[in-house]
Amino acid sequence: MQLQQQALLRQKLLVLGSLAIGSLLYLVARVGSLDRLQPTCPLDGGLRPPDAAGQIPLRSLQFKRGLLLHELRKGNATPEHVRLHQLVQQLPRAIIIGVRKGGTRALLEMLNLHPAVVKASQEIHFFDNDQNYARGIDWYRGKMPFSFPHQITIEKSPAYFITEEVPERIFKMNSSIKLLVIVREPTTRAVSDYTQVLEGKERKNKTYHKFEELAVDGATCEVNTKYKAVRTSIYTKHLERWLNFFPAEQFHVVDGDRLIADPLPELQLVERFLDLPARISQYNLYFNATRGFYCLRFNVVFNKCLAGSKGRTHPDVDAAVVDKLQRFFHPFNRKFYQITGRTFNWP
Ligand code: A3P
Repeated sequence: MQLQQQALLRQKLLVLGSLAIGSLLYLVARVGSLDRLQPTCPLDGGLRPPDAAGQIPLRSLQFKRGLLLHELRKGNATPEHVRLHQLVQQLPRAIIIGVRKGGTRALLEMLNLHPAVVKASQEIHFFDNDQNYARGIDWYRGKMPFSFPHQITIEKSPAYFITEEVPERIFKMNSSIKLLVIVREPTTRAVSDYTQVLEGKERKNKTYHKFEELAVDGATCEVNTKYKAVRTSIYTKHLERWLNFFPAEQFHVVDGDRLIADPLPELQLVERFLDLPARISQYNLYFNATRGFYCLRFNVVFNKCLAGSKGRTHPDVDAAVVDKLQRFFHPFNRKFYQITGRTFNWP
């Protein structure tokens, strides 16, 4: 009797096991088939508005979700992929020009969740670096990832925002390019900037000044405007240079503080600005309590958080210095609100 029960149990386990293996094989086959789907009717050239006619074809979306697309996202297209799928390297149609420590990496990675967006993974530093710029536009294009013709390429190099020559150079490449600027409350951004440099020094076992010593001129007790982290946070000064070349409509300002706390609404505004159909959803973003930040979910299999170098703990800063800086930035902030038409709750 006991032997009979054991045999029955073995049989049940066998059936369950086969079912599990069968399901697994089906899933593998399914993912593989997504990879083979071809995009139909790619959007021709221009960015499309988010109306029904401008929807990216469903099969194209499925394709995007496939394994090949995943490889494209990582910049891993093989020559065979390029030939078979007629992939191209395209100049960016939008650039995240800054601001350093504003959340530029998070913005780029989050936009890359969109099926019609492909990111240039590295900061290219084409327009701010004379040596790179001298290499010419084909060199720049060669640094871009492979993509389907209907997709748009986005790159980010935060140094562009503060470098004198950059607006004119970008204008010469494409006078109608879309420009994204992500900003944070200026004092917080300056401390974040300082923290990054401090970490670099500590890694090399070097000592470094305290933030307070750098941000305030010891002789005059005024804010030290020679300190780069302070200058970079005077957003309006930099933006005014850009406005000598591009009209205000070509800029979109992203609230970097809100991108940290609640990224989706900010991303939806960017989708609209780029004339992309709304495709990034709450499903693509989940809060990771351990990291203390939102992380990215591309599909059931693949998700990722930003590297540990994003979201550092800032040192405590003397409250009087914070107050001094906030008062200093205040008039510049007001001007920035006026120019951009976007108001922030900065002190
Ligand atoms: P901190 O390190 O000061 O917190 P950038 O990419 O321009 O260097 O900006 C870095 C900042 O992006 C980080 O500054 C962090 O606060 C912010 N950030 C925004 N969203 C993030 C996310 N989802 N994960 C990690 N950092 C994020």
